[in-house]
Amino acid sequence: MQLNRRKFLATSAAVLGCPKASLAAPLVLRAAPVTAQILPEGDGTTQMLGFNGATPGPELRYRQGDTLDVRFENAIDQGSALHWHGIRIDNAMDGVPGLTQPMVGPGTGFDYHFTLPDAGTYWYHSHNRSWEQVARGLYGPLIIEEQHPPKVDHDITVIIDDWRIERTGEMIEDFGNRHDFSHAGRLGTYAKVIPSVSTVRRGDRVRLRLINVATARVFPLEISGIEGKVVALDGMPLAAVQAMGPLMLAPAQRMDIIADVSDTVAFVFPTPQEPYEMGQIAVIGYNPEPSTSDITPLPKARVNQPAATPDRSITLALQGGAMGGQHGGDDIWSLNGVSGMTDAPWQRFALGETVRLTLDNQTAFPHGIHLHGHHFHEVHTDGSLGPLRDTTFLQRREVRDILCVFGNPGKWLLHCHMLDHQASGMKTWIEVG
Ligand code: C2O
Ligand code: CU
Repeated sequence: MQLNRRKFLATSAAVLGCPKASLAAPLVLRAAPVTAQILPEGDGTTQMLGFNGATPGPELRYRQGDTLDVRFENAIDQGSALHWHGIRIDNAMDGVPGLTQPMVGPGTGFDYHFTLPDAGTYWYHSHNRSWEQVARGLYGPLIIEEQHPPKVDHDITVIIDDWRIERTGEMIEDFGNRHDFSHAGRLGTYAKVIPSVSTVRRGDRVRLRLINVATARVFPLEISGIEGKVVALDGMPLAAVQAMGPLMLAPAQRMDIIADVSDTVAFVFPTPQEPYEMGQIAVIGYNPEPSTSDITPLPKARVNQPAATPDRSITLALQGGAMGGQHGGDDIWSLNGVSGMTDAPWQRFALGETVRLTLDNQTAFPHGIHLHGHHFHEVHTDGSLGPLRDTTFLQRREVRDILCVFGNPGKWLLHCHMLDHQASGMKTWIEVG
C-alpha cells in the first residue's frame, strides 16, 4: 500500500475549496496487532505488530522540502514511539522516549510534524523495546523524492528482513534472551525481500530502494537480471555512481540502485552452502523504448562540508559481548567502558563542529553504528572521504574513522543498530549546541 500525502491533500483541498495549509489533517499511523503472511501464500500466518493493519507499515512518500504530519496512535500493549531513521530532523521529533519525548503509552498518541530536508530512502520504526517491537513488525519505508527525480519506469522499494518463526509460521517468542544479546542478536529463521512492485518489463529502467530492516542480520546480496549502478547509500547520493559488485547491507542501512532490466530480477543471499533466494520481481513483456541514457549521480545533498582539519578527534571503543574479555561496563556491551544511557551526554559538541570519531571495534562481533539526526562521512583507510552514511558497519576487530559535522542542535543517540546490542549496553548520547 502506498499513501501519497500530496495527492491526498490536493484532492481534499479541491473538494472543500479552501487553502491546503489550513487543511493539514495528519496522516494516522496506528500501531496494533496484525496477522501477517510472512511465509509463502498458502503456508501458515504469523501474529505480528503493524501499522494501519499491515507489516511493513504503509510506504510514506513525500517530496524534498515537504512537511511530514503524522499522528501516531499506540494500540499495542507496550509503550512506544516512532523514530524517523536518518532524517536530519528537529530534535523534538526524533522519537526517542526519555530523551526527546515522553513515552507514548498504550491507548495514547503523539503528533509528529517536521520538514524533510533531504531526498532519499529512509524508514521509520519503533524506538522503544525495539529489539522486540521492530522484530514484531513495527517499521515502514519513508521515501523522499528529489525535486527532479531521475526518470525511471519503476521506482521500487525493497524491504529486506528476516523473522524468527517456526515452520508453521508461528513467532518464536524468545525476545530479549541473553544469548541473542551477547552474541549476534536475534537472527531469523526465514528471510525474504518485499518489493513494492511485482512485475517489470525487459528493458525497463528501475530504481531499487533497498532497506535492511532486520534487527540483527547483515545481508550480503546478489541481484541478478539487472545491470546498473549504486547511486545512493543511507539516503545520501554518491558523488560518483558505483559498480554493483557484491552488495552488503547491515541493519538499518539503505542502498539505491538505478539499473536496466534484462531478465527476472532475483535477490539472492549467497551462503557457503547454497544460495538462498529471497525473492523475485517477474519480467512480463518488454519495453519498446528502453532508456539509453547514462546512469548519472543524483542531485547533490545540501549538507555541511567538514572542516579540512577536524576541530576534535575522539576514539570510541566498542567493547564487551561474548568472547569479548573484560570491559568496564555494567551490562553486556559498552562504549568506552560505559554501558547504556548516562545522565550527562558522552560528549557535547558546539553547533557546526567537525569531529573525527575513531570507531574501534574491540569485540568478537560485527556492529552497525548509527548516529541520530546527522549523516557523517566514512573515512577510507588512505584518509580520503568516503560516502555519507547514517549507519556504519564494522566487522569484528575493525577500526574505522568517521567524520561528522555536528550541524543539528539537540540530544542525539549514538548506538548499535543490532538492536539486541543496543538493548544491552551499546548505546550512548551526545548533545549538540
Ligand atoms: Cu534506526 Cu536509534 O535507530
Ligand atoms: Cu552491535
